[in-house]
Amino acid sequence: MTNETLMRAARFHDYGPPSVLVVESVQRPDPEAGEVLVRVHFAGVNPIDWKLRAGYLKQFMPVPLPAIPGLDVSGTVEAVGEGVSGFAVGDRVFGRGASTYAEFAVAPITTIAHMPDGVSFEQAAPLHVGGVTAWLGVVDSGHVEAGQRLLVQGGAGGVGSIAVQLGHWKGADVIATASTANVDFVRSLGAGEVIDYTSVNVEDAVHDVDVVFDTVGGEVTAHSWSVLKPGGILVTCVGVPDAETAAARGVRAEATRRPTETRSILEELGKLVASGDLKPEIQQVFSLDDAALAQAASETGHGRGRILLKVAE
Ligand SMILES: NC(=O)c1ccc[n+]([C@@H]2O[C@H](COP(=O)([O-])OP(=O)(O)OC[C@H]3O[C@@H](n4cnc5c(N)ncnc54)[C@H](OP(=O)(O)O)[C@@H]3O)[C@@H](O)[C@H]2O)c1
Repeated sequence: MTNETLMRAARFHDYGPPSVLVVESVQRPDPEAGEVLVRVHFAGVNPIDWKLRAGYLKQFMPVPLPAIPGLDVSGTVEAVGEGVSGFAVGDRVFGRGASTYAEFAVAPITTIAHMPDGVSFEQAAPLHVGGVTAWLGVVDSGHVEAGQRLLVQGGAGGVGSIAVQLGHWKGADVIATASTANVDFVRSLGAGEVIDYTSVNVEDAVHDVDVVFDTVGGEVTAHSWSVLKPGGILVTCVGVPDAETAAARGVRAEATRRPTETRSILEELGKLVASGDLKPEIQQVFSLDDAALAQAASETGHGRGRILLKVAE
């Protein structure tokens, strides 16, 4: 291995707490057919990253160890694989790559898009996991329309903060749940009503909703049915909603389904950021060396928007 083929990356050799993440010198990946190699500027830190690292998902999503976490990426194209068209060395791109907690990461061209002028690497980095998921929930599954009532459960999070803005952009009456510290923040994203879930039971406060987008899961899903109007829909990105409960209540239920190709959604999200209709909220930026601290912060399950790793200028 020469210095030219090495890079710095945060990786873990065994499942465990955040401290298993260590920054090491590793082999740079090569882009395969249909992929590009991205020089990473920012990597998003998502709940899926630490769920995989902790081993919570190892029964059905085992990761080959050692593993470099990370899906969200923004950066510049360093090299292109065989058969790649539409992307060239030096292009500014964002989307979903593989093992993005590193100086370089590969990404299929079907899950990245070009960054529009005026959009920064920092703004673009959280748009795949958070942005695409919010789009799937609000637009593709929820079919939210102007004048409808949309409830976003978890309006402050990486997914929820974008879902609130997408609902507002669609012209819906957006209601959202958040903890006390995040009520004003979520209102500033375009929610007309924000329920402080630490003191108010959402089922007592909210009724006649057309679409619930649930980004929390568990008990929150269970307590979301009664706010729906007949024929309404509950969409969740956490788990699978109970079809029997939905049928018994005369409503519909769906889990978000991620398509294999997401470029067209990323392009829509990029345009919204460029026009100012969507402002991705960045909670905190850590260095690659502090990847363990970044995941520990994400693991609290509370916060505002997305945590990022800044890998390069
Ligand atoms: N299926 C998929 O494709 C997919 C994609 C992305 C994410 N997800 C999953 O979706 C979930 C959310 O992801 P994320 O990236 O948005 O996470 P995140 O950025 O960590 O945000 C979680 C948010 O949940 C809020 N929250 C916690 N307890 C709540 C409650 N009882 N009621 C209302 N809000 C509550 C927190 O707000 P406060 O600080 O105000 O408490 C926090 O901002 C995770 O479980 C993630 O794994 C699934």
